[in-house]
Amino acid sequence: MQARILITGTSTGIGAATAREMAPGNTLCLHYNSSEREADQLHQLTDGLELLVNNAGGVVQRESIEEIEWETIEEIFTLNAFSTFMVTKLVLSLLRAGHHPQIINMTSVAMRTGSPSAVMYAASKGAVDTFTRGIAKSLAPHIRVNSIAPGVIVTPFHEKYTSEEQLEQFRAQTPLQRFAEPAEIARAVRYLYDSTFLTGATIDVNGGMYMR
Ligand SMILES: NC(=O)c1ccc[n+]([C@@H]2O[C@H](COP(=O)([O-])OP(=O)(O)OC[C@H]3O[C@@H](n4cnc5c(N)ncnc54)[C@H](OP(=O)(O)O)[C@@H]3O)[C@@H](O)[C@H]2O)c1
Repeated sequence: MQARILITGTSTGIGAATAREMAPGNTLCLHYNSSEREADQLHQLTDGLELLVNNAGGVVQRESIEEIEWETIEEIFTLNAFSTFMVTKLVLSLLRAGHHPQIINMTSVAMRTGSPSAVMYAASKGAVDTFTRGIAKSLAPHIRVNSIAPGVIVTPFHEKYTSEEQLEQFRAQTPLQRFAEPAEIARAVRYLYDSTFLTGATIDVNGGMYMR
């Protein structure tokens, strides 16, 4: 069956790769850097949704807890956590009208390990991880909800936020001794999409950077 899929943050990186992975045979609605009002307007485009991928996100700024200002904390949580909560809420009626609908949230290995240079980013992704399990329970059995926690992926994300020195440290902490391509995360989206008995799960795709 042709699925109707909404993916946020598809201009580059993991979102763009996920769009390419999921495009064949499906109808895609792609979002990047827009407002929540557009999620409302989605109602005019489709009468149901099979998959929502809450992918848009970013570090905003690397700062220690001593330096960070309230406005920056608000911006980080708005981009990574509040947007995920609100987009989910806004398209819930479309998902309820879909066939075997599901939600996939993009978090980060940082929410597992903590991040001294991006404490609020890691905390905002932790909020999304907890949100994932909460709504997996409250939306069951009709809607499945899972998340993916990527390690270091080669995307414009690190051009914006990470120094060469930090990248070297991340590589040293990764047993597979390399970073991943965005397509390797897109394949995890496909895996979750096809895994009909999975809900409330967090899939760690991080080259061994975090194990449990
Ligand atoms: N790359 C990594 O190593 C890594 C690791 C762990 C988790 N992640 C997570 O994976 C997701 C995708 O990241 P990526 O690596 O693919 O980064 P990316 O290439 O920088 O893509 C980020 C996407 O989010 C969108 N976005 C950024 N700020 C936005 C805003 N204020 N409003 C709406 N959209 C906004 C961007 O849109 P515009 O281009 O239009 O601004 C872009 O499409 C993020 O949630 C990120 O936290 C990435």
